[in-house]
Amino acid sequence: MLTRVRVRLRAKRTEDVAQDYAWGQDRELCELEAAIPISIPFSDYQRLFAMELRQEPKGCVRFSIETSNGEHIGNCMCYQMDEGKGEAEVGILIGNRAYWDDGYGVEAIDLLLEHVFTTTSLDKVYLHTLTWNYRAQRCFAKCGFMPCKEEPRWGRRFLVMELDRRRWEVGRYKEDPPPQQEGGSNQVAGD
Ligand SMILES: CC(C)(COP(=O)(O)OP(=O)(O)OC[C@H]1O[C@@H](n2cnc3c(N)ncnc32)[C@H](O)[C@@H]1OP(=O)(O)O)[C@@H](O)C(=O)NCCC(=O)NCCS
Repeated sequence: MLTRVRVRLRAKRTEDVAQDYAWGQDRELCELEAAIPISIPFSDYQRLFAMELRQEPKGCVRFSIETSNGEHIGNCMCYQMDEGKGEAEVGILIGNRAYWDDGYGVEAIDLLLEHVFTTTSLDKVYLHTLTWNYRAQRCFAKCGFMPCKEEPRWGRRFLVMELDRRRWEVGRYKEDPPPQQEGGSNQVAGD
């Protein structure tokens, strides 16, 4: 269990299946994630879900996002983990809209990054987000991700954002301005 003040990441559980199925069928959420809404019957989804609980897909680690009082509000994951290239992709969904725009996404991604950069030797994480998904982009930027290129995929345009270990460690992305030096500017050497 990975914990912050308002958010924790925990392993997926059997009890998550109904909620994940509902989010997976939600057209607006799927549109934001560029995903295809789930169309298989619940019983089939349940079977696949149970299989993935028993055996996590290779190169993939998934978490449920919970509030501090245990409410399951979303999911996040690190996948396509490629030790050769030293990189992996990350993804997040806050499925419960009541928690949007209140900093839960930033806290959850911060925890995921801490997990990735402290338990693996990966040097870089990246993600794809739709070019018009400004909420997601703002959230990722607040966690340190930098936009690096646009990429077409499945007939849509995605923004690729990246964060490397050094940038994460140094924490230069933090938005707090450096302390103002007397009589000087806010410029940081080497910036
Ligand atoms: C994207 C998502 C993970 C972000 O989580 P969140 O908890 O809502 O995000 P946060 O509150 O931590 O940060 C969102 C930021 O975007 C800002 N924002 C919201 N709408 C915005 C818009 N249209 N334009 C620019 N910024 C916007 C918020 O004000 C906030 O910034 P602030 O804290 O500086 O005010 C979550 O909203 C979500 O899962 N949405 C649905 C699925 C999705 O889009 N997933 C990402 C796919 S790549």
